[in-house]
This record gives sequence, structure tokens and C-alpha cells, in this order.
Amino acid sequence: MKKQNRRDFLRLSALSAGFLGLSGKKVFAKSEVEARLNSIASAPDALGRSVIGLRHDPIEQVRIGIIGVGNRGYGHVKTINALQPHAKIVAIADARESRAKRALERLEKLNGGKSKVKLYYGDEEVWKKLVERKDIDLVVVVTPVPEHAHMVIYAMKQGKHVVSEVPISFTLQEAWDIVNTAEQTQRHCMMLENVCYGEEELWVLNMVRNNVFGKLTHAEAGYLHPILQKMFIKSDDPSTGAYYKQWRLRLHAENHGNLYPTHGLGPVANYMKVNRGDRFDYLVSVESVEESLHEYSPLSPKNNDFYDRKYFSHGDMNSALIKTAKGRSILLQHDVVSPRPYSRINALAGTKAYHEGYPSRLSMYDVGFGHHWVDDAKYKEMREKYEHPIWKKMKQQALENGGHGGMDYILFYRLIHNLNNGYPMDMDVYDGVNWSVIVPLTKLSVELGSIPVKFPDFTRGRWQEDRELRFFENV
Ligand SMILES: NC(=O)c1ccc[n+]([C@@H]2O[C@H](COP(=O)([O-])OP(=O)(O)OC[C@H]3O[C@@H](n4cnc5c(N)ncnc54)[C@H](O)[C@@H]3O)[C@@H](O)[C@H]2O)c1
Repeated sequence: MKKQNRRDFLRLSALSAGFLGLSGKKVFAKSEVEARLNSIASAPDALGRSVIGLRHDPIEQVRIGIIGVGNRGYGHVKTINALQPHAKIVAIADARESRAKRALERLEKLNGGKSKVKLYYGDEEVWKKLVERKDIDLVVVVTPVPEHAHMVIYAMKQGKHVVSEVPISFTLQEAWDIVNTAEQTQRHCMMLENVCYGEEELWVLNMVRNNVFGKLTHAEAGYLHPILQKMFIKSDDPSTGAYYKQWRLRLHAENHGNLYPTHGLGPVANYMKVNRGDRFDYLVSVESVEESLHEYSPLSPKNNDFYDRKYFSHGDMNSALIKTAKGRSILLQHDVVSPRPYSRINALAGTKAYHEGYPSRLSMYDVGFGHHWVDDAKYKEMREKYEHPIWKKMKQQALENGGHGGMDYILFYRLIHNLNNGYPMDMDVYDGVNWSVIVPLTKLSVELGSIPVKFPDFTRGRWQEDRELRFFENV
């Protein structure tokens, strides 16, 4: 029998052990851990039919219920309201009365008169009454991340189509539960990844589609956004931008990993046609030391839940490297605490061109072998030539009605347009969970010493079908 040595064993935190369904000890045989890690990649038995390409009868006017009208949901009220008569807000729920009433006031101001929108508020369970209404076609979930999965699942079980803010799931189990419920109920379930509709991102996507980049090899994406002070604010005053019960900081206190992966990754997944001919195979994740949160903590008021806290799990920078089935690589970063300007990086390399965002720049093999960024005239020519048809058509409306440079309006416009016409969604449930599952996979990789962790295949093999992206359909 082979003699076992120290390298055959792994020491796991209770968190990692629990994630892998192991418990009762601290040290585990490496083979046992590896078997559990491989089981992450295998799909459980399907409970229903695949929802790839799912269609429903056209809905002439989409009746909408919104759950959560804090910072983000308050913005969605305006964006959705602008889509009348194709969509109509019927009901709004928020745990807090002040937020629900503020949203109603906004609607009344926008529409110039009394509103019949029904409000639900007062506790954290009251949203179920909204979901159970018979006169709602679509539920829009805009609550803190840990609330998304159970709300999305309940909505589908009540026969509603549902969309959720990002990330749609937080744990691996939640991701599978969402997929299984969508397949059982045959409801539309889409994550509201607005950045996939950004003007720059759809322009790059259009260039990829027209072979400007040649063969794709590598991408870099991220969420680099200094919100350190904002995460600490404990206030009920909406003008402060404070998060409900400091939910974002609470996640940082307790978790490693990339807690907000989808803004940078969604567009990159589209460039690479992930789930439509390629797939994420595995990742490794490395996290830096945590310095900024505990350094700032004593500067917060003494009544702050996180005042003078010495320990936060989340390191300042989380980096992940993803390998795809076609051999491409993606660097994905998450840092919301360092004093650095906002960036999603948006870098894409192919054999014929390279793009990098912040600011947007392009280099091309055909222009000086790509040794320099193309000049302003060439850049402008490429912007105009490959402007995405949605932006060509909708730019004015988007800039007038939607946040984040108009991308929020295009997102909701496309969602409602597809429901009005009975078309499939641009992004399906498999995209949403595939981009969100980065959260638990990076966490696990970090906790296990940056080891490779396999992605589950939520499509159960159908990623191999070379299907067209829907972002160019029925514009
Ligand atoms: N796509 C984007 O660009 C973008 C930008 C910001 C936030 N987001 C996402 O939007 C979501 C909300 O973020 P936010 O900044 O608005 O947070 P927030 O804390 O400002 O708002 C959350 C709202 O949900 C309410 N709420 C909490 N629990 C509830 C419950 N059980 N029932 C009913 N209401 C409940 C709170 O009262 C609050 O008004 C998050 O998922 C976040 O990741 C996305």
C-alpha cells in the first residue's frame, strides 16, 4: 500500500469544508477533497426541460411589480415608467415605508398626477403579497444580493417571469435552484446585467462579430470602484446613498472572493460566446491582504456596526484567472476599497486587434502591426462603422431616460420589447448563474490556497451548440 505523507492531506476552514459537504474535522485526505471538487462540475438531474430559446405568447403591455426601491430600484422606477404603454408598473414593495412612498412620489411627479400603483411595505416578508397578485406578468428584484435567489424562485413558482439585479445568486446551491425552478416552471428568468448593453461593449461585440479581432485569445475585466466610505455609512436618509443595513459591508466582513463579478464579465462572456460554443472551464483565484477596511473602520462613528473592527475577511483585491474550454484566458478583478478611478477594464485581445477601456482605445494588426493605438480619425471611423444597431436606433432615448450613460434604458427597452413580441430573452437563466457563480467559486479557490476550481455546466452540455447571440436579433 502507498505510504501517505503530509502532501496527501489538506487543512480546510469550516467554511470550505461545509461548502464541499465535509464536516467534523479540520484535515481531510486530498483525494476526498478532489472528489468533492470534481462533483461541483457535475450537474444534478434535471427537474424540467431546458429553457434555452424559451418563448412565450406576446404580452401587449407588461404589468410589472418591483421589489426593492433603494438606490438602484428608485432609478428603475423612472426607466420602466418611460417605457409606457409597452410596460406599466402595477405594484411596488420595499421593507421600508419611506422608500416605497418615495418611489410612488417619483411616479406621480413623472406622470403628473395621482397613481394607482399599489404599495407593500412594513417588513421583510411583505413582498410575497406583491408576487402573489394575479395582475403581474413580470417581477423585478432589486433587493440586497442575499435576497435575490429566494425571491426569484418564489416569483417563478407563482407563475411570474422574473428579472433580478446582479449577481442573481450568491451560493452554488442557489444557482442550481434557480436553474431547476426555471426549467420546472418554464418562466423567463434573466439577470439585469446592464453593462452588456453599454455603448462601448456593444460596439466591441459588433467588431468581434464582424471578425475585426480575428481569433480571440484573452480578455481582462473587473469591477474597480472606490465605495469604501459609502459601504460604511449607517443611515436611513436616502440622500446619503447608504445601503440597507450596510449589506454590502456585511458581505465583505464575512466572505473572501469576487463579490461583484458580473459587470466586467458579462460583456466578455458575450465576446467569447460563452454558453454558445465556448464555456468557462475552471478558475484560480488569489486575494490580496485586507488593509483598507480595518484601517478605515476606527474613522466611522462609534455607533457604527463596524466601528473599530480589526478583522474583515475580504482582501482589498481579488483576482481570478478563468480558462475556457476553447483555451482562452480571462483575468477578472474586484476591488471596491482602493483609492483608484472607476474601471471595468474591458480589454480584449485577438490575433488581429486589441481593445482596452478606461479610456477606450483600439490597436490593430493592419495599422502598423498594432504597435500603437490607432489615431483619432481611425478610431472614429471604427466607432461609426461598427456602432451597434440598437445604439444607432435608440441613442437619443437612452441618454434621456436611462442611467449609466443610457445602458440601463437599453436593457429595459430590450427586455420589454422581447416580452411584447414573444421573443426569447437576450440573456437567459444560464448566463445569469454562470456569471454569478464566480462568487462561490472564487471564495472556495481562495480558501483552499488558490487551487483550480471547475465550473458547473448549467446548460447540461448545450454550451457546445454554436448558437447566435440574441443581441443582434429583432432590433
Ligand atoms: N446593475 C447595476 O449597475 C447596479 C448598481 C447598483 C446596485 N445594483 C444591485 O442592485 C441591488 C440593490 O442595490 P442598492 O444599491 O439599491 O441597495 P439598497 O440597499 O440601496 O436598496 C435595497 C432596497 O431593498 C429593500 N429591501 C431589503 N430587504 C428587503 C426585503 N426582504 N423585502 C423588500 N425590500 C427589501 C431595502 O429597504 C432597500 O430599499 C443589489 O443587488 C445591487 O447589487 C446594481
